[in-house]
Amino acid sequence: MQFKLVTFKNIRLEILFFLIYCFSFNLLSENTSKEKALSGYNFAEPSTRNMQDDDFLNPGILWVENGLALWKKKYDSENESCFSCHGNISEMKGVSIKYPKLLESRKKLINLEQRINICRKKMKLSEFDSDSRELLSLSTLISYQSRGLTYNYKVTEKNKKWYDLGKKLYFKKIGLMGLSCNQCHDDRVGLSLRAEKVSQGHINGFPSYLLRWSKVVSVHERIKFCNEQAIAVPHEINSDEYNALQLYLSIRGNGLEVESPAVRK
Ligand code: HEC
Ligand code: HEC
Repeated sequence: MQFKLVTFKNIRLEILFFLIYCFSFNLLSENTSKEKALSGYNFAEPSTRNMQDDDFLNPGILWVENGLALWKKKYDSENESCFSCHGNISEMKGVSIKYPKLLESRKKLINLEQRINICRKKMKLSEFDSDSRELLSLSTLISYQSRGLTYNYKVTEKNKKWYDLGKKLYFKKIGLMGLSCNQCHDDRVGLSLRAEKVSQGHINGFPSYLLRWSKVVSVHERIKFCNEQAIAVPHEINSDEYNALQLYLSIRGNGLEVESPAVRK
């Protein structure tokens, strides 16, 4: 009897040590490969960082200014503007980090740019093209209001389906080279690829100013560009797939601060 008790105790101890072992290597947590989230800023060249740090040098700020003009612009039809319904732009603080958001009526995710176009429709105006300067100026302006706020997305019962899809796409090997996002943005972080340092692929800087294109780009345009570089067929901008990926990336980047408009190569 006593012998049995001792063995039982030992087993319990073994289980305890096994659990401690697992936790110390993070084996039981969801994100096994996850280290602290680091913004792309940390991987950018010093000259690029300097541009981002100084609003007078950051070309993305021109988009913010252009956005503010559009925010106040009155349209003939109803003499309506974004301002006339929403008030001062500072009211938009904290809004961008809620997107992509589940649109209950459509039971799907929409991003900030799509949300703006829904309001355009309400104003009986034509939708802006997804990569237009107008739309990105407004979404940059709105994101800029949240600069410095911390990403803190939650997986909920309602958005879980989209989170799962985003995660699946993140790890899916695609294209001629059979590359998945994680093979670059987890496995090759800090290494050079075509004269660029691979970052963790976070989206806290978006919409971001890309020096190579001399323009501000959305998260979806950036992902599309990554797809094309890996010789994979991209999804459509604003597609369910890219919104799901954006949701996954947002949650993966929890703890990072909004930097929009960031400057990148
Ligand atoms: C062949 C490697 C490669 C693959 C595969 C790849 N990317 Fe990238 N990605 C890059 C490089 C290089 C950059 C530019 C440098 C950087 O910021 O990492 C980049 C940049 C990014 C950025 C911008 C980061 C910032 O701070 O501005 C995001 C977001 C991103 N990738 C997401 C993705 C997603 C999502 C996928 C999968 C659909 C993907 N990437 C697949 C190489 C890759
Ligand atoms: C006729 C009034 C009206 C006008 C004009 C209007 N909106 Fe809206 N907007 C709304 C309503 C109503 C909502 C939904 C509020 C909600 O669901 O919380 C909304 C929601 C939004 C949201 C999302 C807010 C959130 O918390 O999720 C953004 C961003 C936005 N509008 C931007 C704009 C922009 C940019 C313009 C100008 C192009 C504009 N709106 C013009 C009425 C308007």
